[in-house]
Amino acid sequence: MQVIKTIQEMQQTVKKIKQKQSTIGFVPTMGYLHEGHTALVDQARKQNSIVIMSIFVNPLQFGPNEDFDKYPRDEMRDMKIAEEHGVDYLFLPTVDEMYPNKLGVNMTVIDRVDVLCGKSRPGHFSGVVTVLTKLFHVTQPDHVYFGRKDAQQVAVIDQMIKDLNFPLTLHMVPTVREKDGLAKSSRNVYLTESEREEAVQLYHSLHLAQKKIFDGENNPAIIVNEVKKYIQSNTSGAIDYVEILTFPTLQPMDLINQQFIIAIAVQFDKARLIDNLIMSADGKIDHITL
Ligand code: PAJ
Repeated sequence: MQVIKTIQEMQQTVKKIKQKQSTIGFVPTMGYLHEGHTALVDQARKQNSIVIMSIFVNPLQFGPNEDFDKYPRDEMRDMKIAEEHGVDYLFLPTVDEMYPNKLGVNMTVIDRVDVLCGKSRPGHFSGVVTVLTKLFHVTQPDHVYFGRKDAQQVAVIDQMIKDLNFPLTLHMVPTVREKDGLAKSSRNVYLTESEREEAVQLYHSLHLAQKKIFDGENNPAIIVNEVKKYIQSNTSGAIDYVEILTFPTLQPMDLINQQFIIAIAVQFDKARLIDNLIMSADGKIDHITL
């Protein structure tokens, strides 16, 4: 595995790769790698001759009171994990390399962001698509890989790729979970021991919703209420949102009659956890389409 720290070197390398007509699979991350990230690499490895991963904690997507400075980082460990999973090129730019000047042009997301995390984190998705536009230009991938755990991020990127004709294919990879069901996340390290025990209830609450749907409930408001009640009685966290929306268009729905997402965000003392299930109208989670 080759570690590349500058945009210029990454672009020269990509040029050489392209001359050989290899396909490039790209996995953008903010590091502190876990099995969620490596699942993306494993899929990219199967589908491409060259795999590029980036690790860049992107200041543009953090709000003023968020955890940019404290975001967990461990470059040495990440390099080892990336190499073990067959990454060919690890792109590791600094903030100065990515943003040498204050940007005079950036991207703004205007649809699919007035709900879920977009509502509670204003500007977040504009920061995400701005950095991804840069990273896509630098790495010129044929295939890009994103996790279903951050489903709104996938919905927004899907829209960006289609609206602006990025010449690449988006792949959404299923959420990787701990043995008890908690979605893997770099932010899980912020949980106290007792919060960690409670955190699994988020997953259970999503299954409660799925069971209601299997039992024939098709009113989103009733399901959302049940899920909220469940989280309130089984965790000490504060609910940021529980929402049922169409997926990937993220519109409210009065009746569950098409592919949809149930998404939750719960704030614990130092960690804000998100999770979701994307289902077809009959409650099944396979065969989800973008
Ligand atoms: P980060 O949070 O590091 O996540 C990188 C990728 O890993 C994302 O596509 C995310 O959805 C995926 N991922 C994280 N946990 C996962 C899990 N448990 N199962 C499956 N996939 C998982 O998302 C970002 O970084 C940034 O916003 C980024 C896209 C890199 C732009 O800065």
